Amino acid sequence: MLELFNEGQVYEVLLVTHSNATPVGVVRKGGILNFKLFGGRSAEELKTHPYASIQVTNDVELLVKLGLNIPVEVEFMDRKPYRWIKGLPGVYGEVTLVEEIHEDELGKTTVLRCFLRPDGVIEGSLPPRPISRADYLLLEMAVDLTRLFVATRSLKVEAARKLYERIWLNYHMYKRFGGNSEIAEKMMGWAVSSLRWNP
Ligand SMILES: Cc1cc2nc3c(=O)[nH]c(=O)nc-3n(C[C@H](O)[C@H](O)[C@H](O)COP(=O)(O)O)c2cc1C
Repeated sequence: MLELFNEGQVYEVLLVTHSNATPVGVVRKGGILNFKLFGGRSAEELKTHPYASIQVTNDVELLVKLGLNIPVEVEFMDRKPYRWIKGLPGVYGEVTLVEEIHEDELGKTTVLRCFLRPDGVIEGSLPPRPISRADYLLLEMAVDLTRLFVATRSLKVEAARKLYERIWLNYHMYKRFGGNSEIAEKMMGWAVSSLRWNP
């Protein structure tokens, strides 16, 4: 399973912890999956319960909804100390954590570097969904939106403006490529209000 992840490339997958599921970008290095958490519920859970599943999906709306805490309809399986989403292929394993200081255009923050060494494989299969350029743009919008929330909260005006512009551009490209998900409209709306309420 791990060999499907080209080494060094970032893949958007699902991280399932004790009681949470969220998208993360993972990079494989040898037999280990590396990812970084910039705070949030999953980071807190891993500190007290360092067991997680990494699952693959080609359902971009699922990734986006989980990233934005929009309710989704999935079924979870419990295999203590692990938990995962039923039907999606993946791996599970213990996670080693290292806390580090991270600095970028959004400021200085603590980041949790996570290393998951798989202990087992999660069986599952994905529908034969083809890749669309609209999907890719929706994903980019969601990643930028979560960063925009951080930027406006911490009053990083210039960073917020750049993120907003990119969301707006990707939204219009998304429509051009035939995208018609309601989530794109919601994201554009949240981007506008995020700037308005934290000018
Ligand atoms: C596609 C996608 C990928 C993301 N990747 C990461 C990531 O690698 N690390 C991170 O800290 N947040 C990432 N985020 C943002 C988190 O999903 C978001 O901040 C979330 O609210 C925090 O998760 P949690 O509180 O449920 O743990 C990503 C969001 C999206 C939409």
